[in-house]
Amino acid sequence: MSRRGSLLLLTLIGLIFLADKSYPAKSTKGARKVRLKFDEDGYFKIIQLADLHYGHFPETDEHTDKVIANLLSYEQPDLAVLSGDMVSGFAWDGTNGWFEKRFRQLIKPIAAAGVPYALILGNHDDEADLSREQIVLLDMRLQQGSLTQLGPREAMGLSNYYLDIAANKGGGPAARIWMLDSGGRGCDWQYGGSGCVERPTIWWMNGTLVRLPRVPSLAFVHVPVPEFMEVWNRGAARGSKHEPVNCPMSDTGLFKALKSMGVTALHSGHDHDNNYEGLLDGVRLAYGHKTGYGSYGPPPGWGHGARVILLKAGQAAHEAETWIRLENGARVDQSKNPKFASALQTICEPGDGYCEEFPFAPTCRAELRFRLARLSHISLTTYLYSLGLLLAAAAMVMYRRRVVKRRGKQQEHSSL
Ligand SMILES: *[C@@H]1O[C@H](CO)[C@@H](O)[C@H](O)[C@H]1NC(C)=O
Repeated sequence: MSRRGSLLLLTLIGLIFLADKSYPAKSTKGARKVRLKFDEDGYFKIIQLADLHYGHFPETDEHTDKVIANLLSYEQPDLAVLSGDMVSGFAWDGTNGWFEKRFRQLIKPIAAAGVPYALILGNHDDEADLSREQIVLLDMRLQQGSLTQLGPREAMGLSNYYLDIAANKGGGPAARIWMLDSGGRGCDWQYGGSGCVERPTIWWMNGTLVRLPRVPSLAFVHVPVPEFMEVWNRGAARGSKHEPVNCPMSDTGLFKALKSMGVTALHSGHDHDNNYEGLLDGVRLAYGHKTGYGSYGPPPGWGHGARVILLKAGQAAHEAETWIRLENGARVDQSKNPKFASALQTICEPGDGYCEEFPFAPTCRAELRFRLARLSHISLTTYLYSLGLLLAAAAMVMYRRRVVKRRGKQQEHSSL
């Protein structure tokens, strides 16, 4: 069977399986849910705590505790969005309860500030002792301020859901936040990279939208889409780009889909050394600002901080005022950065060399199998070519030797 044929068959089997298993998201039993609502002046403030990366060292975690507490006290937001990679699962020491311990530590300053929060998973959260589902369920169980939901089965990934923000004077929703799960590893039938929002998730969003009133909408995702390269290349971005955009090699069409669905802002994390935002075809693409002390980044001199998004009732999501708040209290209103605008990038850098470094780690098994399969596949065809080339080269060397020898003999003869 051809590759395409087998893929199609797998898709069909998968769809039948999904259709059979699809059921609505579980709800948190007994949890008192906070109702998100615009304030009396018609504002709603979101702070994006990006890439906290707990779990490296006690000192980095304590620093991050302080950053979170400070940022929340400066901004007094209505909602904190944790946009993935809250914990560096790859720093796991192999003990049980490791993730929960880090997770409890990181929600402490948020709970202490009384700020409701919601999370999506990144590509590193599930590399320790808890699966993606266990992490979402843990969060839903632990804290009443959490608005996180376990996504429906027909979407891929475990943290896909939306949060409606009500108008101040009651009535229906006045704005909507989509929380999208970009998975852990691989994208669109390909291994490698740090994940993406898969097509079934986009279909679920589209199907869900049919029953919802159209309101200004924005989305959060961990891994940026390829269009983050374009908005930078066009010189339309404000802020800084100090590393390649680590977008997925396979484009599942999220940007175009969001645009067609009227979601006009997409906020991502993942790339710790980028913090720019800009408008592309009427959609705002915006990085957060690295918040945590664990892992790499932000670049020297930036300081740790967070992106703040101030929604205004009745205003489109891409027109919302946005800025970076730093841990020292400074507010950064980003401007165009001509210094780096000439560095164009057109190919996604899937990055995340973790499995190259640790090919035998449990989380890398699938990728290892993929690599081995690819290696043996290459050997079948390439071996013959290489063998042929080698033989040809050997034959040429032998032929030349013989010619040289014969010439030598001829010279011997003529000199006699
Ligand atoms: C959403 O659904 C509509 C109607 O079913 C369809 O025409 C449209 O192409 C879908 N959009 C996406 C992005 O899937």
